[in-house]
Amino acid sequence: MCGIVGAVAQRDVADILLEGLKRLEYRGYDSAGVAVIDSRGELRRLRRLGKVQSLADAVHASPTPGGIGIAHTRWATHGEPSEANAHPHMSGDIAVVHNGIIENHETLRDQLKAQGYVFTSQTDTEVIAHLVERELKSADSLLAAVMAARTQLHGAYGMVVIDRQQPDRMIVARSGSPLVIGFGIGEHFIASDQLALLPVTRKFAFLEEGDVAEITRQSVSVFDKNNEAVVREPQESTVEHDAGDKGEFRHYMLKEIYEQPQAIANTLEGRLFNGQLNLEALGDLSDIEQVQIIACGTSYHAGMTARYWIEELAGVACNIEIASEFRYRKSVVRPNSLLVTISQSGETADTLAALRLAKELGFARSLTICNVPGSSLVRESDMALMTRAGAEIGVASTKAFTTQLVGLMLLTVALGRGRGLSTDKEKQIADALTHLPGLIEKALGMNSAIQQLAENFAEKHHALFLGRGDQYPIAMEGALKLKEISYIHAEAYAAGELKHGPLALIDSEMPIVVVAPHNDLVEKLKSNIEEVRARGGELIVFADEAADIRPEANMQVMDVPHCDDIVAPILYTLPLQLLSYHVAVIKGTDVDQPRNLAKSVTVE
Ligand code: G6P
Repeated sequence: MCGIVGAVAQRDVADILLEGLKRLEYRGYDSAGVAVIDSRGELRRLRRLGKVQSLADAVHASPTPGGIGIAHTRWATHGEPSEANAHPHMSGDIAVVHNGIIENHETLRDQLKAQGYVFTSQTDTEVIAHLVERELKSADSLLAAVMAARTQLHGAYGMVVIDRQQPDRMIVARSGSPLVIGFGIGEHFIASDQLALLPVTRKFAFLEEGDVAEITRQSVSVFDKNNEAVVREPQESTVEHDAGDKGEFRHYMLKEIYEQPQAIANTLEGRLFNGQLNLEALGDLSDIEQVQIIACGTSYHAGMTARYWIEELAGVACNIEIASEFRYRKSVVRPNSLLVTISQSGETADTLAALRLAKELGFARSLTICNVPGSSLVRESDMALMTRAGAEIGVASTKAFTTQLVGLMLLTVALGRGRGLSTDKEKQIADALTHLPGLIEKALGMNSAIQQLAENFAEKHHALFLGRGDQYPIAMEGALKLKEISYIHAEAYAAGELKHGPLALIDSEMPIVVVAPHNDLVEKLKSNIEEVRARGGELIVFADEAADIRPEANMQVMDVPHCDDIVAPILYTLPLQLLSYHVAVIKGTDVDQPRNLAKSVTVE
C-alpha cells in the first residue's frame, strides 16, 4: 500500500528518499514520485509509473540536489495507476504526499474548481494540495494552513506537505494512516513505516491519531487533534535486523519460509522453557467467558484455526469474523468477552477500525497478536502478544502466519488453564511446541520434491484445497497463497462439504490438494479422497506416513514429517507455502510483490 518518506537535512536528501521508497516496495505499489526543493529554491518533482528503480534512474539522470524533500509509492485507489496520478501532487508552491482516502474529495474538488483551481489528476490527494494552497493565503504559517485544511477533510490520511517558499520545514498530519518521525543529528525524517528510515536513524517517535507536526532540521513540534502542543517521546527502534537483504535466496518469500524455525523459536523465547509455558504476559484470563477474534487475509486464517483450539482445548466459546464485516454490522457482545485482533502489520485499516468499534461495544478487554512493535494495534490494545517473526517483506505472509499460530496456541493455554485444559494436555502442548522448530526444519527438506511437483501444477487454471477440522483453515491459507502469487484460481473446502457442490468441478484438469495429518478425522478424509478419485480428479495429498495413504493412479502422496496433532496446522502450512512459491516462480510472476496487492492495507 502507499508509502511515504520525507526528510529535512543539511545534506542532499534525494538518495535517502529513494532508499526509503525501496524499503517500502514490499508494501505493494504501482507508481512512485519524489519532490525536492533544490539549493536555488526550485521545487523539482519527478514521477514514474512502475518500479522505484525507474524513478531512481530518472533522478540520477537529472540530479536533484536539495536538503528537503518528500517521496511516495502509490497504490491506486482514486484514479488509474499513471504518472499524472502519482504523488507528490502540487498546487503553486505546495507539494503533498498522502496515504489514505479523502472521502469528501468530490465536494472539495467542485468547490476548489469553482474558485479557479485546475486539477491535473484524478486523485483524492490533489484536493489536499489545493486546499493547503488556498488556506495559506489567509494563514500566518504553513502549519496553520495545514491545520485549517484538515478540519475540512473527511476520511483517512497520513500526509506530508512542503512549501517552496519555506524550504526549512515539513508539516505532517496523521488521521487513520500511520506516520513515524525519525530523529537524526541536525536532521529529521518522516515515514509511513520505520523500515524506510533504518539506514539513517534508529530513533523514532510515533504520531498519535489527530496529530499534526512541524518538522525542521533542529526541531519537532507536535500538536494533538485540538491543536494543543504535546510531546511524543522518541524511542530506540526494536526492529531487530535490517530486512533489506535477501541473502542467498532468490526471493524474500523463500527466505522468510526458511526463517520459520528461527522465527518460531523467537516467538517461544521466554514463554517456553524446560517444558513449561510462561504466559504471564497474557495476565489473568479466568474471567473471560467468550473470545471474539477479528482479522483480515492470512491473519483471519490464523484466527479460524485458533477457534478450533480455543473451543476444543480451552473449552471457551470463540467466534471469528473478518474485520471489514464486523465493523459494519451490529454485533451482540456477551459479558466478559475478550476481543482478539490478529495482524502482521498492526496497521490494517479494517482491523484497527474494528478494535476502535469494539471499545464502544463493551468488550472486557482487547488483545492483539501482532508482529510490529509500536504499531497502531499494539498501541491501542489493552494487551499485546508480539509474534517476533522479524520484518516480513514478501507480500504473501509466511513466517508472520506460523508465528501467529504459535501465539494463538499460547493464548489457548492461557485461556484453558483452570478450566478445559488438563495439566497433561498442557504438557503435551508444551512438548509439541518444543519440537516444532526442529520439525519445521525437517519439513523444509520437502523443498526439492515440491519444486518438481510444481512443474505440472503451473499449467493449471484452477485448484481445490481440502482439509478437515483445524486443517480446513490451513487449506484456505494454501489456496490464498496460490491465488496471491501465482494468479491461479484456487478455492478451499472443508472436505466434508465437497459433495454439496464442488464435486461438480472435478475432472482431470482440476488439481486437488489435500492436507492429511494422522488425526481423528483421517478416516473421514480418506472417504473424501475416494470421492474425488472416483471422478477422475488429480490428487496431491500431503500426509503423515501413519495416516496410511498410499500413492495410486492420479494420486501423489507427499510424506510430511510425523508430528503431534496439536501442532499439525502449523507444520502442514509449510509444504503449501513451498508449493505456491515454486508454482509462482515457474509461472514467472512477481513473487514478492504480486500484482494489485499490498503488504499493509491502510485504507478500507
Ligand atoms: C494484506 C496482506 C496479507 C495480510 C492482510 C492482513 O492483504 O497482503 O498478507 O494477511 O493484509 O494484514 P495484517 O497486517 O492485518 O495481518
